[in-house]
Amino acid sequence: MHNGTSLTQFIIEEQRRIPGATGDFTSLLNDIVTACKVIANAVSKGGLIGILGTAGSENVQGETQKKLDVIANDVLVRSMEWTGHLAAMASEEMEDVYRIPGRYPRGKYLLLFDPLDGSSNIDVNVSVGTIFSVLRCPEGVDEPAVEHFLQPGTEQVCAGYAIYGPSTMLVLTTGHGVNGFTLDREIGEFVLTHPDMQVPAETSEFAINVSNERFWEAPVQRYVRECLQGEEGPRGRNFNMRWVASMVAEVHRILTRGGIFMYPWDRRDPSKPGRLRLMYEANPMAMIVEQAGGAASTGRARILEVRPTELHQRVPVVLGSREEVERVVRYHREHDRARARGGSPVEGAPV
Ligand code: F6P
Repeated sequence: MHNGTSLTQFIIEEQRRIPGATGDFTSLLNDIVTACKVIANAVSKGGLIGILGTAGSENVQGETQKKLDVIANDVLVRSMEWTGHLAAMASEEMEDVYRIPGRYPRGKYLLLFDPLDGSSNIDVNVSVGTIFSVLRCPEGVDEPAVEHFLQPGTEQVCAGYAIYGPSTMLVLTTGHGVNGFTLDREIGEFVLTHPDMQVPAETSEFAINVSNERFWEAPVQRYVRECLQGEEGPRGRNFNMRWVASMVAEVHRILTRGGIFMYPWDRRDPSKPGRLRLMYEANPMAMIVEQAGGAASTGRARILEVRPTELHQRVPVVLGSREEVERVVRYHREHDRARARGGSPVEGAPV
C-alpha cells in the first residue's frame, strides 16, 4: 500500500490554494488523468488484443495512423466530451475542432492533445505518450472555432504528458512548477514520485535526428559539430547523444537528467516550418520545460510567444537545459547577422 500523495489529493490541495476556485478545473484534470489510464492500459496490452500496426488511414498531416493513434484519440474524445468542463477539443488526429455534442453541457476550457506521440515506436515496444494543453475559452464564445484556439502558449492554464514506458507516469504543470506522478497499477492511482522536477542548467547530452544533418541550417550544424568534436573541439568536453524518436520520452529524459532536444527547421520540405506541431506538442512541452527551469525556443523566438496562425501549425523546436538552448539561439543570431551583412541566404529558412 502506498502512503504518498495521490494525484487526486495533489490537485485538490492545489485547488484549495486558489481563492474562489470552483473545482471545475480539478474535475477536468481528473478526467484527463482517467483517459490516460485507459490509454496506458491499451498500450500495455499491445499485441495481446491485436491493436498494433496501422489503421489503414492517414491523419490531417498525411501521416499513416496507427490503430493505437485512433484508439487513443477516441478514448480522449469519449472521456472528455460529456464532462461539462470543455467548450471544445482539438487533436493531432482530427482535422477540425471537435465541438461538444449538443446533448452535453459546455464548459469554459479548451483542450488540445496529441493522443499518442511517437506512435512510430508502438510496434517496436518503445515508450510513447499523450501530450495535452488546456486553454481558456474566450469569454462570450459559445461555439468555439479554430480562431479561439489560436492563443500563444503563454496563455496555457495547464500542460502535461503521460509517458507509457517501463512505468506509466504523468507529468504536469499548472504554472507553479512541475510534478511527476507514477501509476500504481495495483490501486489504480497516480502517486507523486517526482516532486518539483528541475532541468539541470548544464548538460553534455543532445538529442537530434542526425540523419537530417545535411538539411539543417548552419547554426544547428555548427552546434552539433561542436558537440561531436568533444574534448578536442571548442566545447572542451565530450557529449553523449540520444534519439528515441518519441518527443515525450526525450522531454522526460531531459527533465530527469538534463540535455537538449532539437527538431529544427530543415530543407527537406521548405514549405513546412518544422516537424513538430505548435499547439499540442511544442507549446505544452515548452511550458513544462520552462516551469522546470529550462528553456524552449524555435532558435529565433521563445516558443511560448509564437503567435499561432493555424491549428496544426508546425514549428522548429530547441528545448532543454537553459545554457545549451541559449547557445543554439546565439548561434542563430550570429548566423542571421552575418546573413544580413551579405552572406548567402538559405532558401525557405524561417526568419
Ligand atoms: O510526431 C512527432 C514525433 O513522433 C516526435 O515524438 C518525435 O520527436 C519525432 O516525431 C520523430 O521524428 P523522426 O521520425 O524524424 O525521428
